[in-house]
Amino acid sequence: MKVLLIGSGGREHALAWKLRQSPRLTALYAAPGNPGIAEEATLVDIDTADNAAVLDFCRTETIDFVVVGPEAPLVAGLADTLRDAGIAVFGPSAAAAQLEGSKGFTKDICAKYNIPTGAYQRFTSAEPAKAYIREQGAPIVIKADGLAAGKGVTVAMTLDEALDAVDSCFSGAFGAAGAEVVVEAYLDGEEASFFCLCDGKTALALASAQDHKRVGDGDTGPNTGGMGAYSPAPVMTPDMVERTMREIIEPTISGMADSGHPFTGVLFAGLMITAKGPELIEYNVRFGDPECQVLMMRLKSDLLPLLHAAATGTLATVSAEWRDEAALTVVMASKGYPAAYEKNTPIAAIPQADAGTKVFHAGTALKDGQLVATGGRVLNVTAMGGSVSAAKDKAYAALDKVEWDNGFCRRDIGWQAVEREKV
Ligand code: AMP
Ligand code: GLY
Repeated sequence: MKVLLIGSGGREHALAWKLRQSPRLTALYAAPGNPGIAEEATLVDIDTADNAAVLDFCRTETIDFVVVGPEAPLVAGLADTLRDAGIAVFGPSAAAAQLEGSKGFTKDICAKYNIPTGAYQRFTSAEPAKAYIREQGAPIVIKADGLAAGKGVTVAMTLDEALDAVDSCFSGAFGAAGAEVVVEAYLDGEEASFFCLCDGKTALALASAQDHKRVGDGDTGPNTGGMGAYSPAPVMTPDMVERTMREIIEPTISGMADSGHPFTGVLFAGLMITAKGPELIEYNVRFGDPECQVLMMRLKSDLLPLLHAAATGTLATVSAEWRDEAALTVVMASKGYPAAYEKNTPIAAIPQADAGTKVFHAGTALKDGQLVATGGRVLNVTAMGGSVSAAKDKAYAALDKVEWDNGFCRRDIGWQAVEREKV
């Protein structure tokens, strides 16, 4: 099978690395890719925001299957363009990608199909939103409706913070994404990420992970795209997985099909495990980054037939096997991230992969033969171990061999699981 992978982050490097191991793969292309992905795939210089250009490439190269990594091309209808042209594609239609693209859309699906989530209201102007917030009280959560690169959510512990967040959304802090605001009840519990493949009618549970969104040790400082992750998440016991499938994922899949927008691709449920059980915080319509990196390390099965089955309505015929070990990844970011940071700083050395460790590239580039950091999140140092603690020790041992003066990382990735393992 000739495959084109869309994207350029650590998530896509992990997908490329895993796809490359498939005996069914005959050629792997990636657009735009990065220097890590270039070790696994032929990089193609096409504008991935230009659906027609991607289709044109697929026709010229007789690509059999396209795997879309990030959400932006999905929300922009890349999967529709390709599917309409008869090319198999892993990723939802633009209509189904609203599960990530519009928080209000997802909340309405939850309400209609009785899916557990925080009580909410949608608003298109500030005053009614503020009146509702005053009525509900703090803590309360304010969300820009649209895609805001993870920055559109304010978990307000006080009323003033909540009212300010409403003003900031409606005064354009998140552009068009903030033209509508969702106000939602605060959920108390432990967060977990849960991933399923979907083919429009069937869902296949993959695995769970836990992300570390804050930039600083001890979960302090501003939110980021994710500073590290591990899998599995101990809070996702077999009972919690079964409830999540039955109460959240399956009603979503059947609800989306009923409403004329069957969901295909990977459904990433951000969950809060509350005293009542799993509740939905949000959906994403793609793999998490860096959660994908730990999932790919743990996946024993061939990835290619799984993704292809999701794309072609045949998920009921496949299954996924997982290694029992834990995997953990530490993100190395440019100093200053998630605020401004210096670009093109040299990375002098990256340790070689061995049986249980792998460094995935995110924001890297080659400039005159020198590997440099071009992004905020730059490297994902990933390791497997018999426990999360063991995986953590191995990942940090590898990370300490990275020579990059402008890089930093959190030192406490995995702390929740490590604490649990001590007991
Ligand atoms: P989201 O972009 O919707 O994932 O929200 C970003 C983060 O805000 C989540 O990972 C949670 O930590 C937090 N959050 C979002 N919604 C809620 C909620 N209803 N209750 C508590 N925390 C929330
Ligand atoms: N790591 C969180 C995300 O990919 O949305």
